Amino acid sequence: MALLTEGTPGKLKLGVLISGRGSNLQALLDATSAPDFPAEVALVLANKADAAGLERARAAGVPALAIPHKDYADKPAFEQAMTQALEDAGVRLVCLAGFMRLLSPWFVDHWRDRLINIHPSLLPAFPGIDTHQRALDAGVRFHGCTVHYVRSAVDSGPIVAQAAVPVRAGDTADTLADRVLAAEHQLYPLAVRLIAQGQVMVDGDRAVLAGPLTTPGTVLNPA
Ligand code: GRF
Repeated sequence: MALLTEGTPGKLKLGVLISGRGSNLQALLDATSAPDFPAEVALVLANKADAAGLERARAAGVPALAIPHKDYADKPAFEQAMTQALEDAGVRLVCLAGFMRLLSPWFVDHWRDRLINIHPSLLPAFPGIDTHQRALDAGVRFHGCTVHYVRSAVDSGPIVAQAAVPVRAGDTADTLADRVLAAEHQLYPLAVRLIAQGQVMVDGDRAVLAGPLTTPGTVLNPA
């Protein structure tokens, strides 16, 4: 069992849950490697032993564990194992980053207000999958991504931060996905930093921001 005192004092300990390539994990690893970043990745967990993101964690010298859901009799046993590993590592904020298993109400309640997710749309628009094609089909002029606290309903919960990107004439789901993913890599570290600095308070269904923040003005598309 890891000691809670391990790591850098004063830094918020993150657990990052992944299932695949882990590019958002990489963005968090890069951000947290800065000495003045107020959080550090204490543990990376994958529900698949071959998740590419596990290698990214190991390359960064961060503890990484596969907890394959298939090795457990049922979802409660799988989620208990993940929770035990996270708590042993002293994790205080769990970040879902392309974690492709639906979490039970038990897990969501256990980590309530200590569990965040990044979703590739401007929620509450386009929860679920195929968000980029659905944005194109809907003809929206802006699309983007959202970091939110997790509640039991899929892709719901208090919004911490969002990034908007323009939808351009001629976009395909792939070109749009690339633009959104680049925004995700900026947004997730920003949201974690705000939480780690104590600038995010959950108030019912909303997250309220405090402290110095900058926000650009109106953006038109087409300009
Ligand atoms: C991202 O688009 C994220 O928004 C979604 O799953 C994808 C994960 O990508 N939840 P990666 O594994 O972080 O590269």
